[in-house]
Amino acid sequence: MARVKGPLLRPLDGDSEWPILNTLLFGSVERGGHHIVPRAEAVPVDWSSVFGRQAPRTLEIGSNRGRFLRDLALVQPERDHVGIEIRRRYAWRIAHEMGRDGGPRNCRVVWGDAKLVAPGVFGDGTVADIYINFPDPWWKAKHAKRRLVDDDFSGLLGRLLAPGGSIWVKSDVPAIAEEISQALAAQPGLVGPTTFAEADLPLSYRERSCLALGLPIERFRYTRPMAP
Ligand SMILES: C[S@@+](CC[C@H](N)C(=O)[O-])C[C@H]1O[C@@H](n2cnc3c(N)ncnc32)[C@H](O)[C@@H]1O
Repeated sequence: MARVKGPLLRPLDGDSEWPILNTLLFGSVERGGHHIVPRAEAVPVDWSSVFGRQAPRTLEIGSNRGRFLRDLALVQPERDHVGIEIRRRYAWRIAHEMGRDGGPRNCRVVWGDAKLVAPGVFGDGTVADIYINFPDPWWKAKHAKRRLVDDDFSGLLGRLLAPGGSIWVKSDVPAIAEEISQALAAQPGLVGPTTFAEADLPLSYRERSCLALGLPIERFRYTRPMAP
C-alpha cells in the first residue's frame, strides 16, 4: 500500500474549530490557502466578538506548527494573538492542538495567504506587534519573486502596525534578513533596525533547529514610534 506522505488531515470537529477563523472569513473550515480573500461581509473582523474582550492584538505571519504562536499567547495573556499559515496541514494541526489541549484562548489561526488575508481583517494602525519568524526557505536570487516579505507586503505591514508597535524579524539567512530590513527601512514612519535577544521572544520551531545546529540567527525589529 502506498505510504501517505506527511501528517494525516483529521477533520476539524467541535473542539478544534474554535481556534481557526476560516469559517468566519471564508465560509467553511474547508476553504482557505492560496488565492482566497475573506468574504466582504466578514471584514473588518469584529475582534472583540472573536476573543470576547477588547485587548491589543498581535499578528504572526507563517505560523507553521504554531509553537511560537502558542508560547506567545501563554507569555502575553493580556493580548490576543492571530497567526496566518498558508499550508492547511499546519493550520489544521494548530487548531487540533489548541482545541485538544485546551490551549490558550487568546490565540487564533487562519489557514490562508497572509498577503490576501491581512489587509482585510486588520485595520490600519491596529496591530500591536507583528512577528515574522524564518519566513523564506527560498533564499536564492532566482526565487526573489516568491519572497514573502517584498516591498508591497512591507508597506502593508507598516500600515497595519500600531504606534509603539514593532515588526519583529528572525532569520538564519543573512541575504533574506538584509532584503527584509531594506524593505522595512523604506516604509514611512518605521524606525530601525534594532537588534533583540534570543530571550526576548519565545523560540519558533525553526529557531530551535537552528540553535541545535549552531547556526547564526539574525534578530531585528522596526518600530513605529508613538506620536509625540
Ligand atoms: C520556513 S517556515 C518557518 C516557520 C515558523 N515561522 C518557524 O520559525 O518555525 C515558513 C512558514 O511560512 C509559511 N508561509 C509562507 N508563505 C506564506 C504566506 N503567504 N502566508 C502565510 N504563511 C506563509 C509556510 O507555509 C511556512 O509554514
